[in-house]
Amino acid sequence: MKITTTQAKSPSLNSADLTVLPVASAGDSDAEKKSGKPKFARAVAKAMRDLDEAAGGLLSDAIAHHQYQPAPRRRLDIHLAGSQKVVRLSGISNEALQGEGDPDSWRRLGGDAYSAARQNKSRRVLVYIPGEASAEAVSAIAEGALLAAYEYLTYKKRPKETHGPRELTIAAEKLNKRQAADAVAAANAVCEAVTLVRDVVNSPPNDLHPAVVVRAARKIATESRGKIKAQVFDKNALRRMGAGALLAVGRAAETGPYLIHLTLKPRRRTRDSKRIVLVGKGITFDSGGLSIKPAKSMEDMKSDMAGAGCVLGVMKALANIGTRHEVHALVPTAENLISSAAVRPGDIVRALNGKSIEVLNTDAEGRLILADALSYSARIKADVIVDLATLTGACVVALGSDYAGLFTDDDEMRETILGLGRRSGELFWPLPLAKEYRSQLDSPIADLRNIGTGGPGASLAALFLQEFVPPGVTWVHLDIAGPAFWTKGDEYTKPGGTGFGARTLIRWLTS
Ligand code: BES
Ligand code: ZN
Ligand code: ZN
Repeated sequence: MKITTTQAKSPSLNSADLTVLPVASAGDSDAEKKSGKPKFARAVAKAMRDLDEAAGGLLSDAIAHHQYQPAPRRRLDIHLAGSQKVVRLSGISNEALQGEGDPDSWRRLGGDAYSAARQNKSRRVLVYIPGEASAEAVSAIAEGALLAAYEYLTYKKRPKETHGPRELTIAAEKLNKRQAADAVAAANAVCEAVTLVRDVVNSPPNDLHPAVVVRAARKIATESRGKIKAQVFDKNALRRMGAGALLAVGRAAETGPYLIHLTLKPRRRTRDSKRIVLVGKGITFDSGGLSIKPAKSMEDMKSDMAGAGCVLGVMKALANIGTRHEVHALVPTAENLISSAAVRPGDIVRALNGKSIEVLNTDAEGRLILADALSYSARIKADVIVDLATLTGACVVALGSDYAGLFTDDDEMRETILGLGRRSGELFWPLPLAKEYRSQLDSPIADLRNIGTGGPGASLAALFLQEFVPPGVTWVHLDIAGPAFWTKGDEYTKPGGTGFGARTLIRWLTS
């Protein structure tokens, strides 16, 4: 689908099969009323009037007939007589329409426009923004449409015909041509990354084992034309290094474990350039190991590498868009299986930073592989470390499938991620790194045990990870167990891998 932008005094019905007009319930914001420049209500009313005129009064008839009241996510389709053309009134919040509130409503509108076009077999779609279009609204609409277009068809017989629209035009009464074009380009790069994450998360675990994750990482490095360097530590290298926790988790599987290290150096540094490490949990399948999972809980465990997928997708996007930061990606990858070689409950392993761990539950394997990756990051001398992991079922119990758990002692990073997440349509919620519970991780015979003795599961997992974060480094842990993989869907996300985290991190690293 090709996305273009243009400036137009009014929405025209000529060039599109589907015309989407965002509408809101009320008129001008209080601020606008006070300023004495009530341009917003006028702009919407004018766009409506123009469309109604072009449609021979059908719009006002339909609104009256259906008693349509605009409200966020409430929509009305008007089929134009004698043609295949459709006008869709798409309810949105007042704030969003005025460029104030949450840009995610634009993403939803874009996703909905794509799906409506697909349903109506419309080839050309026009989204018309009354008034002035911000770059953020333009990129959100584009993102929504591109994300809604995602399908995972690798294992399906080729569908005969795809009905998705070929062209989406985002038009506005007022828009900065260059900014809008840049916004669409950014949306394309972001969605390419999200697509990569969704693809690897959706891949079945028989075709995406640790060696395949390595291949995917190397491919990203190769395609970056020298911008990204890849270094891969295999089993022997990990042994020499002393990464005993990652080795333990990978012991029962045919391929892996590996530690992947990608490095992207900025072309130009600025004074606020930072050295940033992204760490992603890369368990390609989590059976639980000898502490085996019940069958139902195992069904979606191909998604246990969503953190790794996200980190790889972000690197790919950064190579395309560019960043002023030096960004490192660390992906410990392994398959948590069962064999006579499997790690046992009761085994004591030694992580790369020298700490011994009593493994009491082999299903708490994510924290083990992350322990070695976080220890390894001491070699990088990072300013900030962000890890993403489908780490605990407890986080899903606490926050459900829309919110990721956010753990950090750094107030500024917490606010940054919360804010960028909201704008990106990825929700985070702070949970405590509660020192009060730390003693639950004490073992009488090792430095640590890998599970608590009761307590809050998501916080205990975070406290465990903290033991391996190099001292003095700002660290953020994102538990994405809920939002990484969906059984439900929404305007721009289908069931399956969601790509969660990529949009927020790319915005953070490129803004
Ligand atoms: N991969 C799981 C966590 C998970 C659960 C992700 C549900 C996505 C959806 C993780 O490795 C795990 O099994 N954690 C255990 C920890 C427990 C043994 C302390 C859990 O959450 O039950
Ligand atoms: Zn597990
Ligand atoms: Zn796991």
